[in-house]
Amino acid sequence: MERDIYTPPGGPPQGPPLSPELFKTIGESAIRDLVKSFYEEIEKSNIRPMFPESIEESIVKSADFMVQVMGGPSYYTRKNGPPRMRARHFPFEIDEKARRTWLGCYRKALDNSEIPESEKTVIWDFLTGFSAWMVNKV
Ligand code: HEM
Repeated sequence: MERDIYTPPGGPPQGPPLSPELFKTIGESAIRDLVKSFYEEIEKSNIRPMFPESIEESIVKSADFMVQVMGGPSYYTRKNGPPRMRARHFPFEIDEKARRTWLGCYRKALDNSEIPESEKTVIWDFLTGFSAWMVNKV
């Protein structure tokens, strides 16, 4: 059924894209480990029902995207086409509460990661801004 899509007044994330240095510093395997750990938190969260029963594919897609935005190879676009992330999230009703839960899962994944602190801060700031733009329900 159609629903009213809410558009956050702040608009798309502002500011410069992430530096490709991020990918060089962290490396692909640490990014993939972070995303896997994030999905382990999602599994335990109350937004679990939004995700497919098997999240293996979600892990690959999300990790491909994170590698790409951090300046690594464009795996996501090669496999899936243009990211259009906000539009891809329209099928899911994402309100501020769901966003907080989603961010909380990344917070735990970052806390458990070996990624250097300054890079963790950059990733966290990116996720905080980007996730606000994924909200599509009041
Ligand atoms: C604001 C809270 C968010 C919620 C509740 C949420 C939830 C979801 C759900 C339910 C899916 C579909 C299942 C799947 O294919 O994994 C999905 C897909 C995805 N999400 Fe999010 N998401 C949020 C924010 C974000 C943000 C900020 C990013 C990027 C930094 C992101 C990246 C992705 C990617 C790459 C996919 C796969 C898209 C595809 O089908 O190709 N999500 N998300």
